[in-house]
Amino acid sequence: MSGVMKLGFAPFAAPAKGVLIVFCDDGLKLGAAARKALSAAGDLIKRAAAAERFTGKSGSALDLIMPAGLKVARLIVIGAGKTAELTEKDFLKLGGLAMGKIPNAASEATIFAELPGAAMRPDAAADLALGIKLRAYVFDRYKTKRKEGEERSADTKVAVAVSDVAAVRKAFARREAVADGVVLARDLVNEPANVLYPAEFARRTLALKKQGVAVEVLDVKAMKKLGMNALLGVGQGSVRDSRVVVMRWNGAKKKAAPVGFIGKGVCFDTGGISIKPASGMEDMKGDMAGAACVVGLMHALAARKARVNAVGVIGIVENMPDGNAQRPGDIVTSMSGQTIEIINTDAEGRLVLADVLWYAAKRFKPKFMVDLATLTGAIIVALGHEHAGLFANDDKLSERLTKCGLATGELVWRMPLAPEYDKLIDSKFADVKNTGSGRWGGAITAAQFLQRFVADKTPWAHLDIAGAGFDSRQTEINKSWGSGWGVRLLDRLVADYYEK
Ligand code: BES
Ligand code: MN
Ligand code: ZN
Repeated sequence: MSGVMKLGFAPFAAPAKGVLIVFCDDGLKLGAAARKALSAAGDLIKRAAAAERFTGKSGSALDLIMPAGLKVARLIVIGAGKTAELTEKDFLKLGGLAMGKIPNAASEATIFAELPGAAMRPDAAADLALGIKLRAYVFDRYKTKRKEGEERSADTKVAVAVSDVAAVRKAFARREAVADGVVLARDLVNEPANVLYPAEFARRTLALKKQGVAVEVLDVKAMKKLGMNALLGVGQGSVRDSRVVVMRWNGAKKKAAPVGFIGKGVCFDTGGISIKPASGMEDMKGDMAGAACVVGLMHALAARKARVNAVGVIGIVENMPDGNAQRPGDIVTSMSGQTIEIINTDAEGRLVLADVLWYAAKRFKPKFMVDLATLTGAIIVALGHEHAGLFANDDKLSERLTKCGLATGELVWRMPLAPEYDKLIDSKFADVKNTGSGRWGGAITAAQFLQRFVADKTPWAHLDIAGAGFDSRQTEINKSWGSGWGVRLLDRLVADYYEK
């Protein structure tokens, strides 16, 4: 979606119409280009700031309509606080803030990428633009009418004014690849499950081929042959057949082991025979956010031509109650050979991942695997919506993910894995059961279950994104229900550690 805006870069020049946005510090100081563009307005800003008690505090804004002396229809001054201390995250946030201040109906806006000291450096200006782009996203595919005041000009032109257009364009190119990946992930999560069922999800991944990603779709027959009975058991109650999609991007030497990303793709989770209560069940169209992130990430890596070999594997199913649905008490033999007793058909994500993790490690022998899954309500009880849960069998991978979380703002918090939890998932009849005895430590027992399906001691991390993937924290760069969480985090992991 995100068709509300055309983003471009231009040299600093005072615009003759539309909206002008400039940044100031917490002493109300402006940059040189802004001072020049606003010189005809005299001490207007000073007086307006006094009247509004606007001090330039980070995140605050002064909004002036028809500013006297200027040609623009609206002047917005955004406080950037202590401008010497700004980090990447702050520039993203400023971009989001600026975009959020542009009225829906405006057809043209100019944003000065400048701070009191100087023009923003190319990387900072490009981060600002990324923030603008992420904030501009709307999912309105199914809106046929607009409420009054909600009308948006179909193509608001947003120009980011910079000092070195070529350098900023270059810095923005890789960020745009990532932004497009985030948008792709958000669109997939926001789609309803009557539209986005497993075969349709798989079909949409084929678009990655245009970026040079090799895409392979496994159907039920192929999965049966591989012995993916844990995954197939989840999907057997649905009239929509399950799929597994393998996506490969080769940007490094042919022989180099790939990095692996695995996603839970439950297009809709009714709970199956252990059916969920009606209230809020509609949210379970987002139970494929992990898989959506992997698709968005593969887009980002390919579109920016990352110098890495990467493989993404997603398990896509629909969990429905039906005459043919899996029952509590059923025992399935997973691809790994381990047998699983189904206690609760609503603990389906781990069954899907059991086979996909096993398959990915055995077939691709990746350097590491990271899986993403909206796996448990328990992780929301533990961490709320501010952090995703991180579980790992490898300290180095865990530390790297934590650092990338702090850098991108997609925060993760490490939770424990330990053999002491194993007794909670040992089954009376099979090798393992799919829920813990009792409900304590629900996110941990789920992760402990997954660990049993990580073949050959592959370094592995599991991100429980039940609180992050949808209906999550609203930020200046995300107002969407489907957040696209994880694309920026994992792109950064690859860029910072695996592209040498
Ligand atoms: N998809 C849900 C988890 C979920 C809940 C994600 C809320 C996002 C928001 C998962 O399949 C599930 O149903 N988990 C159960 C596990 C339980 C049956 C052991 C849960 O968390 O209640
Ligand atoms: Mn479930
Ligand atoms: Zn689920």
